[in-house]
Amino acid sequence: MELMIKDKIAVVTGGGSGIGEAIALRLASEGAKVVVADLDPEAAKKVAGTIQTQGGDAVFVVCDATNPGAVDALMEKTVRTYGAVDILVNNVGGGTGINLVVKTLLEDWDKTIELNLRSAYLCCCAAAKIMIPRKQGRIINMSSISGKQGEPLLGAYCAAKSGVIGFTQTLARELARYDITVNAVCPGYVFTPGWEKLAQALKDSQPALADKSLLEIFEARVRSVTPLRRPQEASEIAGLVAYLVSYEARSITGQAISIDGGIATG
Ligand SMILES: NC(=O)c1ccc[n+]([C@@H]2O[C@H](COP(=O)([O-])OP(=O)(O)OC[C@H]3O[C@@H](n4cnc5c(N)ncnc54)[C@H](O)[C@@H]3O)[C@@H](O)[C@H]2O)c1
Repeated sequence: MELMIKDKIAVVTGGGSGIGEAIALRLASEGAKVVVADLDPEAAKKVAGTIQTQGGDAVFVVCDATNPGAVDALMEKTVRTYGAVDILVNNVGGGTGINLVVKTLLEDWDKTIELNLRSAYLCCCAAAKIMIPRKQGRIINMSSISGKQGEPLLGAYCAAKSGVIGFTQTLARELARYDITVNAVCPGYVFTPGWEKLAQALKDSQPALADKSLLEIFEARVRSVTPLRRPQEASEIAGLVAYLVSYEARSITGQAISIDGGIATG
């Protein structure tokens, strides 16, 4: 299938590692010009360098996606470098610690909402201002299986990812008149640096996991909850994103699409 995203200009937040890295590489391999935006300068530089080595076009921008000034600067740099923003992938996200809701510190709650929801809100607003006059655009917000169902010990993360879906549905309706599509992607389990941190937190808090490796903790969780009994690869998530930002997917908007081995049924 011809995705028709050659020369489209794509911003990928959190593009320096994990799922974001896979998305940046995949969009570049389809011919998009990619802005790899990440808090971690080395990670962002490495991914942009890999794309260039593979013959693609990419730059990196060091950016805290929760900071309004930094997000505006990211979009300005994108426009200065490539002339527009056609595709925005709000991939930044993750949790801050694990705990029962009633024991979650307010500070951790706020940080998790900021990282997942505030970042998407800020980036969407900044990119939409550029997309609206051009009457075209594709926005992907990274949600999660945790945005579709509650998960003990991950209350703030579930609230944030569920919020991402509600926000996506609203924005899709508001931007449809400008031919801008907005969709959420809901992965299940991908073994990334982010999941390693979660596995470490589980190991630290549960004595039964003390002698398990982080990968064993991840695999046991996957097997216990996933009908297909296997995790997802970051490249699978990237493939779904590549499709959703393509011309082929022009009629899909306001959706929260699960890619989770069959966990979510709605
Ligand atoms: N890994 C999974 O199993 C899984 C499942 C469902 C959803 N997700 C979601 O997918 C997305 C990516 O997850 P991952 O596991 O690849 O994450 P990760 O932690 O492995 O990578 C996240 C990247 O974002 C960057 N980053 C962190 N805070 C940032 C900020 N404020 N501004 C800019 N960059 C920042 C990090 O430096 C890192 O490069 C997240 O939104 C996550 O919630 C992941």
